[in-house]
Amino acid sequence: MTPVRIVLILATTSFSLQPIGFCQLIRPNYVYRNLISGIHDHFNNTCILLLHATVDPLTSPDGIRTRNAVRLLNLQRYFSQERHTRTAIMDLATFTSKVGIDYFRIKRPLFVILNDQGDIRQLLTNQISTWITMAYPTWIMFLSEGTEPAEFFKGMNIPFDCEFMVSNNVGQTEVITEVYRVSPGDVLRTSNFAIWTPEGGVRITGLQGLYQRRADLFGKTLWVTSIQNPPMSTILNDEHGEMIGIGGMFGRILDILEDNMNCSFRYVEGKAWGVLSPNGTWNGMIALLIDKVADLAASELVLTSTRINAVDFTIPIISSRFHTYIKRPSSLFISWKGYTAPFATSIWLALGSLIILSSVVITVTEYVGHRYDVNRYGDSPRPRLGSTVLAVFGAFCGQGMLASVLPTTRAAHLTVHLTSVILIAAYSAALISFLAVQTFTMPFTTMEGLLRDGTYRFGVTPNSAEYSLFSNTTDPVLRALFEERMVPDEQLPITYIEGLHTVCREDGYGFMITDTMVGALENQVDCALEALETMLQTSLAMAVAKNSPYRGIIDANILMMRDGGILNRIIESEWPTKFSKAEESWTSVKFGDVLPLVIVLAGGIILGVFVACAERAVVGRLHCNLVPRGGRPTKFEPSALSKYTPESDRLSKPKINVVSVSNK
Ligand SMILES: *[C@@H]1O[C@H](CO)[C@@H](O)[C@H](O)[C@H]1NC(C)=O
Ligand SMILES: *[C@@H]1O[C@H](CO)[C@@H](O)[C@H](O)[C@H]1NC(C)=O
Ligand SMILES: *[C@@H]1O[C@H](CO)[C@@H](O)[C@H](O)[C@H]1NC(C)=O
Ligand SMILES: *[C@@H]1O[C@H](CO)[C@@H](O)[C@H](O)[C@H]1NC(C)=O
Repeated sequence: MTPVRIVLILATTSFSLQPIGFCQLIRPNYVYRNLISGIHDHFNNTCILLLHATVDPLTSPDGIRTRNAVRLLNLQRYFSQERHTRTAIMDLATFTSKVGIDYFRIKRPLFVILNDQGDIRQLLTNQISTWITMAYPTWIMFLSEGTEPAEFFKGMNIPFDCEFMVSNNVGQTEVITEVYRVSPGDVLRTSNFAIWTPEGGVRITGLQGLYQRRADLFGKTLWVTSIQNPPMSTILNDEHGEMIGIGGMFGRILDILEDNMNCSFRYVEGKAWGVLSPNGTWNGMIALLIDKVADLAASELVLTSTRINAVDFTIPIISSRFHTYIKRPSSLFISWKGYTAPFATSIWLALGSLIILSSVVITVTEYVGHRYDVNRYGDSPRPRLGSTVLAVFGAFCGQGMLASVLPTTRAAHLTVHLTSVILIAAYSAALISFLAVQTFTMPFTTMEGLLRDGTYRFGVTPNSAEYSLFSNTTDPVLRALFEERMVPDEQLPITYIEGLHTVCREDGYGFMITDTMVGALENQVDCALEALETMLQTSLAMAVAKNSPYRGIIDANILMMRDGGILNRIIESEWPTKFSKAEESWTSVKFGDVLPLVIVLAGGIILGVFVACAERAVVGRLHCNLVPRGGRPTKFEPSALSKYTPESDRLSKPKINVVSVSNK
């Protein structure tokens, strides 16, 4: 039914004058007007419903009928026209049959029961209070002189979170009292709310907030269910295996709640989180709440739309994100490419060109010097391009060059040396950082990637919100993941820590979990975990039964703990400190990383031996003895040779850099 229709019903009912004449208006109209306005202004209600008893022809002589009818209509006109508040008049029986459950569509209604006569008590007790969510509207009821609330409301439940006020006439003033029960069979509790005087109107005497006035559950026993899910919640059992408490973060929250709310908790163990099965029944902790076995589920339940239809949630304790975690792929050995990667191809080309160009320049100047300035050169050997290239190359590897007598050549040497210093520094820096930073490549970063990869399987905890995310979805990727990649139900890990252990133990296994849980469990597993992209942003909260009267007081206390910083303190103290792995931040260079260098070195030695042997064979020496490394004869001039870096040393040069890295 749309709100428009409700208004129509309210309107038609209020203008069918037949029943309204019979109700008794037990206070003067100005009291009604003024007091109801005061209450209305305090609670900011959007509409007022004036309720009265059903027709009782015997006690309603005609004269009174007309007078009452006029007064009541005046009252309605006052609220509608002068106070601009939608107002309707209705008898309780009509209200039950006509408006029905649609009262929920009226926002913040104020239900006024004008008197306590006729069948009001019987209707309230037997029909209204058993059918309506009493806490939804605000109630004010006018009692006749001599009516005792405890007697009048005997047998009627006014829930803990319901704002039900009764007004008693004391001389000129009205004393407005709140009535409620902690639980259905409990004594009727009353607390002063306000006083009305003809001069001052409604003056609030009680505390402002509802849960300041209802801060006490008077020792009520609440049943709490939880699940083994350290460090969030752990089940504490006695020697008979009976659950006697909850440990972990929620255990500490519950301790504070128990103290603050003055209630006592009893416990019942939940075997699973709770999902809706296809036949429409719930299991796990949600089922315990629905069946009223438990009043509160104290663990980090994920707030989902399906669950909200079945239970109510408290305000979120933590918000978190769901990720699928996989084992970090083992870090790659540095490849051959790693040694050329520090410089782009163009730089390598430029470097090569530079060596050749500067060699040509040096050779030419030396040659010219030799030719025309014989005095200065004496009988030193004539320059040759090949040996110069080798010398310049040596300079780029950090070796010295034979000093020249010619200033021009010296200038060229200086340029070569400066360039080489800068290049070697840049190259070493890039290589060192590459070796020192552990690098790994994720096989994929999204769930689509996991699906396409085909070698990975993944799991979630069974009977959980994550499970229903996959099992009841219209998203083709999630559906495919569920059908093709999720491990069979009976192999799903029961707890989060078990799931993470499976990730470490098995190759190609992903596990979906919140990052808060990973933060808490990370140092209990022996492998590094990597998250794929976020699957779901979620709020984790405790849950109570649908329309539970205790949700408000629990929320109020959690809010108080949150605002006071207690909640944060509890969360932080339950979470392991992040520094535990700090000393492991050194990563050593592995043998695999320097393997290319070793291969080059070995290759150089072997090549050297071969060339040496070949030379000896050609020169006609007798035997090919193993020549010591570096002692390899060359076709270059001996004097130059002593200055030039031998081939193998040159090749092992980067090795020296790496060794210094590994020794850092
Ligand atoms: C009603 O509204 C006033 C002002 O908008 C606000 O101060 C007051 O707290 C509200 N009362 C309730 C019960 O929400
Ligand atoms: C707590 O509840 C008990 C009833 O079990 C009651 O006697 C006591 O006064 C309450 N304590 C507080 C501080 O309200
Ligand atoms: C699946 O989701 C739809 C809404 O998307 C819901 O109406 C239905 O109850 C869900 N079924 C189960 C078994 O969870
Ligand atoms: C609904 O299905 C679950 C398993 O999916 C089963 O345990 C339960 O007994 C069923 N309930 C009814 C009422 O059929």
